[in-house]
Amino acid sequence: MSRGWTPSSWRSFPAAQQPDWPDDGAVDRALKQIGTYPPLVFAGEARSLQTALGQVASGNAFLLQAGDCAESFDEFSAVNLREKLRVILQMAVMLTYSMGVPVVKVGRIAGQFAKPRSSPTEKIGDLELPSFRGHMVNDPAPVAELRRPDPARLVQAYHQAASTLNLLRAFTKGGFADLNRVHAWNNEFVASSPQGQRYEQVAREVDRALAFMRACGIDTETTSALNQVDVYTSHEALILGYEEALTRQDSLTGGWYDCSAHMLWIGERTRQLDGAHIEFLRGVGNPIGCKLGPSATVEWVVELCELLNPARIPGRLTLITRMGAEHVEDALRPLIRGVRDSGHPVVWACDPMHGNTFTAPNGRKTRHFEAIVGEITGFVRAHRAEGTWPGGIHVELTGEQVTECLGGAEELDHDDLDTRYETVCDPRLNGRQSLDLAFRVAELISTT
Ligand code: PEP
Ligand code: CO
Repeated sequence: MSRGWTPSSWRSFPAAQQPDWPDDGAVDRALKQIGTYPPLVFAGEARSLQTALGQVASGNAFLLQAGDCAESFDEFSAVNLREKLRVILQMAVMLTYSMGVPVVKVGRIAGQFAKPRSSPTEKIGDLELPSFRGHMVNDPAPVAELRRPDPARLVQAYHQAASTLNLLRAFTKGGFADLNRVHAWNNEFVASSPQGQRYEQVAREVDRALAFMRACGIDTETTSALNQVDVYTSHEALILGYEEALTRQDSLTGGWYDCSAHMLWIGERTRQLDGAHIEFLRGVGNPIGCKLGPSATVEWVVELCELLNPARIPGRLTLITRMGAEHVEDALRPLIRGVRDSGHPVVWACDPMHGNTFTAPNGRKTRHFEAIVGEITGFVRAHRAEGTWPGGIHVELTGEQVTECLGGAEELDHDDLDTRYETVCDPRLNGRQSLDLAFRVAELISTT
């Protein structure tokens, strides 16, 4: 275990982006309560994910990390989760089929309730309000009272994460994710689109492969690799008190694990080398990620690797780059070289969302599908040029047919944004755009 580390050692480091909780002991009581609750995931599961990510680090698998920008307390239903899972499974089939490597599936799911903000307050009309920091902290409605951080939300976040994870386990292990049902994942809305038809072609190929296996005597109905999938959970480890309360000592190895999710990541705004977030995550045994924006330097990233993965364990550390489509290739190449030459085994993943956000004339925050593809293109090119593996993508999506990102095969434009703009934070790809992206990524990786 790391020298001098305890689950609370982060408390003596500066912690960015923490809410201004009311000073009445309520937050301590909420955290104490969560500390008595069962872990949401087990250390052994986090280790399995780390092993799978180790395969990504060595170029033998691909990471698909996807889900909402921010999960919502209001949009909490089986249908919503099923639709999200459906599109993730469809994307994974497309990627596996065309790339010929396993796809490691990690959701921004079952705990993605806290958001860092560029400014602590925002102006709505004449009103200066505390910024919305995710449903784990406050309510997005533009009312001062509702924007006040409420510690009861920490407990509610735990319960919603538990319930979401329970359903996720049922969907992924109980038949929904059975590869024999590959056609059934193509929901009506997507199936009627060109990308849905392209997906059907691949699904027919998968069917043929399954028929071949059956003819060879393999029982595809009971082979667990075919009728169950692993979908791991992840979120930004932002509210450190909550993460600490769910950090438990593994009885098998004696190591500490943050049992709020399988994988945790550090955001662009909290990645200070001498800050509390890095201090906290360096001591837990989970696989961890760190976002890297345009200001990241080679020296910084190599030191980050030393701090977070001194034992150089493949799969322990995922570097999630989010540079913006225009600069990605030039910005990435020196970082890739620096990390490669330092000998650190990392997973490189591309977040093509957060460097490509802008405000449309009607005031909606949006992203263009082509910019998203553009950033992934630059990412793949940079890795090809440096001889490293473009290990995966990290995207914000939903299975619902929202109109939050522009472009894609449906060519959504500015006028469409108001039709179904439902995100509680950043704009997400809808089902068709997500599947379209999987095709484009598959093509890029096979041809670049
Ligand atoms: C996010 O992933 O939603 C996010 C806030 O990203 P970043 O930290 O890269 O800005
Ligand atoms: Co976001």
